[in-house]
Amino acid sequence: MNKEEARHRIAELSDQINRHNYQYYVLANPVISDFDFDMLLEEMIRLEKEFPEFAEPDSPTRRIGGEITKEFRQIRHKFPMLSLANTYSEEEVKDFEDRIHKVIGDDVEYVCELKFDGVAVVLIYRNGSLFQAVTRGDGIQGDDVTTNVKTIRSIPLRLIGSGFPEEFEIRGEIILPHSSFERLNAERQEDEEEPFANPRNAAAGTLKMQDSKEVARRKLDCILYYMLGDILPFATHYESLIAARSWGFKTSSAIAKCRNITEIFEYINNWNTGRFDLPFNIDGVVIKVNSLAQQQLLGFTAKSPRWAIAYKFKAERVSTRLLSVDFQVGRTGAVTPVANLAPVQLAGTTVKRATLHNADVMTSLDLRKDDVLFVEKGGEIIPKIIGVDLEERFFETQPYTFITTCPECNTPLVRNEGEAAWYCPNESGCSPQIKGKLEHFISRKAMNIDSLGEGKIELLYDRGLVKNISDLYDLKPEQLLGLEKTYPATEGKKEKKISFREKTVENILKGIENSKNVGFERVLFAIGIRYVGETVAKKLAIHFGSIDNLMKATDEELIEAEEIGETIAQSIIDYFSVQRNLETIERLKQHGLQFELKAGETVRKSDKLSGKSFVVSGVFQKFSRDDIKTMIEVHGGKNVGSISSKTSFLLAGDNMGPEKRKKAQTLNIPVISEDDFLKMIETDEAIKIG
Ligand code: IVH
Repeated sequence: MNKEEARHRIAELSDQINRHNYQYYVLANPVISDFDFDMLLEEMIRLEKEFPEFAEPDSPTRRIGGEITKEFRQIRHKFPMLSLANTYSEEEVKDFEDRIHKVIGDDVEYVCELKFDGVAVVLIYRNGSLFQAVTRGDGIQGDDVTTNVKTIRSIPLRLIGSGFPEEFEIRGEIILPHSSFERLNAERQEDEEEPFANPRNAAAGTLKMQDSKEVARRKLDCILYYMLGDILPFATHYESLIAARSWGFKTSSAIAKCRNITEIFEYINNWNTGRFDLPFNIDGVVIKVNSLAQQQLLGFTAKSPRWAIAYKFKAERVSTRLLSVDFQVGRTGAVTPVANLAPVQLAGTTVKRATLHNADVMTSLDLRKDDVLFVEKGGEIIPKIIGVDLEERFFETQPYTFITTCPECNTPLVRNEGEAAWYCPNESGCSPQIKGKLEHFISRKAMNIDSLGEGKIELLYDRGLVKNISDLYDLKPEQLLGLEKTYPATEGKKEKKISFREKTVENILKGIENSKNVGFERVLFAIGIRYVGETVAKKLAIHFGSIDNLMKATDEELIEAEEIGETIAQSIIDYFSVQRNLETIERLKQHGLQFELKAGETVRKSDKLSGKSFVVSGVFQKFSRDDIKTMIEVHGGKNVGSISSKTSFLLAGDNMGPEKRKKAQTLNIPVISEDDFLKMIETDEAIKIG
């Protein structure tokens, strides 16, 4: 293919892919198969690689992500991002409508819309291409999240159709649909990461991630609801939304024109119940004056437009009887109380169970046998127990008390000072703990032995083949072949039949074998030392380089490492003081797992910076801030968060706040540049692990 042909084909592919994207993600009406779509995309990726001069910044291949945002630039909004006047009261909606009538007269039309519960964003388009995406921030300036936003499939990178202004802004809400939210939280739970409380938090967290590939994976969506520009070719808000849709934007199909307060309330009531059937969260309804001329006449207060109001739905609350309290043991041995409730309909689902979190929460609710509880569900998805209906309480009832021995193995529970949870200390003999540790070991961010997921590990444990993570590496094909078990249906889970055929066994053993190449920092995470999560494991791996060094480290030496405090240090020391754990590690070593960083993963660990502490601030030219912090550690120095008289250096990049520099000067602390720093350690190589 010559250059001209390539240019032509790239343009053609770009056009086709954009249209198919629109059909699929905006109109939900795909016209080609996923396979054919992937073929087009692959061809485009190939051609852009071969002819990079024709790879446009708004090419649909940008959606795959991969670019890293080191620091989100602050952008000043051209039109300040105001919010809406909010109310929970129907009376105030009536007052709003009265006020409008007084100013405008009888001839008013309203547009009612859903109030999407996500993160507000403004998209700026220039000459039909997405130029910038900025978060609301404080309303005056927000973060430039363009790279991440480009991965959202329903946002057009290049507009389709015609008639759009040369430059305009469109506002909308970035949301995480329920299906994506649930998948994400399931993964996080599996990885022992704190699940997100609700889809809004998850969307906000995702939008601010540095790695756009991960953003692409999480499948955000975006619904647009407000267009702004110096010159807009519309008379009404409704028309602007119709036009936006024709240019490729996803707008809501739930918009309705209403002529009076009765119609407005009909819309509100409809969605107050209908909201639970939507695939995403809304927290109310927005009512806007339709005519743009009338909007202009009504104008704005300092905070919000006078031509719109948001009516917010109250969180739904029901009451139901408490049937019993169960106690569940997790992989760390922590015991969680769970309330079994008389099944009740709440916000579109049947609720039968709700967590009581820990002993303190249970005590403060003062639960008694047969109590009636209030249960609420807001945007949180997870039902929450709010309190007890005291009017329904029987006389002389006994309070529920927290158990004193493990419900699984009868070992007396213990509670560490300052912690909310009670633990079962019988780590090696309590089955949910053993199974949980095995599941953690094989999980994606640990050893990633996915051929063993979905109940297979449970079967191996139930058959007595694996009692400890190191047993996995002794498994023989003949022990596995033909194993079979049917797990009956339980709460929320279907009946499951597992049987190990030849291919399954082959995959399992291959997965186990491959895990021997997993890097030290992940092995360290996988062995399941309490409080050593993914990040801490990485820091420890860099700081100590090998498990042998880590085992030898004293309390003081552990605390020297970045992010390691007293609790983590003690937990590490405790772990290595248990003979059984030492034996497990020895066996894993014999099997060839990685217990030190490979050469090249850490560059010249030295003591050049020993005893020196650094505050690293701003944006750097050669390395990311994280890389620089890693270099400091690798060479024996320490990172600290804020400047004090004990700080050795302020390492200043671009865009550092002036207060930091001032403070350093006042305290006589040397301010050094990236190059000064690199001279100190005499390296120009990046230090990366994982
Ligand atoms: S219009 C000038 N329409 O609610 C204000 N906002 O409390 C224009 N929101 O910051 C906003 N759904 O993030 C508008 N259909 C909708 C909305 C909506 C959600 C959010 C938006 C805004 C907040 C106001």
